Amino acid sequence: MPSILLLSDPVLEKLRISGGATLHGELNASGAKNSAVLMFAASLLSKEPVTISNVPHLRDITNMIELLGSLGVEVVVDDSMNIEIHANTISSFVAEYDIVKTMRASFLVLGPMLAHYGKAIVSLPGGCAIGTRPVDQHLKGLRALGTKIEMKDGYVHASVENKLKGTHFIFDFSTVGGTEHLMMAAVLAEGQTVHENCAMEPEITDLAEFLNKMGAKVRGQGTNTIIIDGVEEMHGCHHRVIADRVEVATYLIAAAATGGKVKVKGAQPEHLGAVLAKLQEAGAEINICDEGIELDMKNKRPKAVDLVTAPYPGFPTDMQAQMMALNAVAEGTGTIQENIFENRFMHVSELLRMGANIKLDGNTAIVTGVEKLKAAPIMATDLRASISLVIAGLVAEGDTLVDRIYHMDRGYEQVEEKLRMLGADIERVPG
Ligand code: EPU
Repeated sequence: MPSILLLSDPVLEKLRISGGATLHGELNASGAKNSAVLMFAASLLSKEPVTISNVPHLRDITNMIELLGSLGVEVVVDDSMNIEIHANTISSFVAEYDIVKTMRASFLVLGPMLAHYGKAIVSLPGGCAIGTRPVDQHLKGLRALGTKIEMKDGYVHASVENKLKGTHFIFDFSTVGGTEHLMMAAVLAEGQTVHENCAMEPEITDLAEFLNKMGAKVRGQGTNTIIIDGVEEMHGCHHRVIADRVEVATYLIAAAATGGKVKVKGAQPEHLGAVLAKLQEAGAEINICDEGIELDMKNKRPKAVDLVTAPYPGFPTDMQAQMMALNAVAEGTGTIQENIFENRFMHVSELLRMGANIKLDGNTAIVTGVEKLKAAPIMATDLRASISLVIAGLVAEGDTLVDRIYHMDRGYEQVEEKLRMLGADIERVPG
């Protein structure tokens, strides 16, 4: 693996946060991890090299590079994290459990390998901390495209004689990964494919634009009906991934929780409607400028907000934990309903250890803000939960120690550096 990609071993590290600072300043948005990982999978559709820029330097990205490497695919990374992927060197069609289990998105190499080479053996990803996360819609849609699927020893053995065939498939419910997976599989199918009841997240649109640059004929992305006219072959291209809307929202929420003022440069406000509306409800002044998004809380304590997570353009599940941390120190009571994943309240027990007032009732959390949280040793359980605990640490009295920050390193680039630039007292310490 190129040396630039060596990240320190976060299993052995914790974050120490000394609470109390009001966040002030500017930072740059990173590229969207959830777009980039999909483009890595889509690169398997072409024999020509693709280059992807604005890729964040994260553990999920290095895991994806490792997976492509295990398939024999050549990946070249430069100093600025421009990534060139050359899939014509592929020599294996097996994605092993050891890699797929670390990152569910890697399951999505199945569709592109199958569409291009007619075969793929990919480990089922299994559940994860936030829910069981089945892939039934992925498999149902691949079958509709003419794939023969057998399950053996936890692996999906997929094959197709000649080519996949265009089809009309209606998703049973909104699934981001399902929509992305079947879109990638259908680009090389014979004839037209129509997918209905698709998810509409910006990362899906970004992926569709990437596929179109590679020569695909995809339209309707960003709506719930996507139409794909199959093409004979895909080509090389260059693409810059969109800004990471979850990362941007996280810094805005962190600043709002501390009463601060930040500008996130490179942020794409058009992807953040539901979140910006909630931040305004919480009392923040939001200013969309040429450079990105500015938030000014004018040193005020936020007001608690009610929210319900929903598929895009609804309030994103990936920003629920961060808003819970904000509500925990807000004025009043806010109700948070989680509708996407069945187990995405793992941060609640940790926030309670910091003195938060939260009552759980099924998939609803009723959060009554307290004046101040109190520092405590706490443990991250998944990616977004981990950053909500960092926000809690920023607004707590005393030194908070966050354990298991390897979850955070999967999706947040240079967290300590970015937060320190905004005035936070935060450092990585040996575990
Ligand atoms: N689901 C099924 N069957 C399927 C597919 C999904 O039951 O075949 C269920 C899931 O278990 C879940 C719901 O449908 O309860 C929605 O899942 P979805 O497929 O939309 O999620 P995903 O593709 O697995 C992506 C993001 C997640 C984000 C969700 C929802 C990536 C790599 N991951 O996951 O991001 O929470 O969409 O927006 O894009 C994160 O970044 O922290 C993260 C978890």
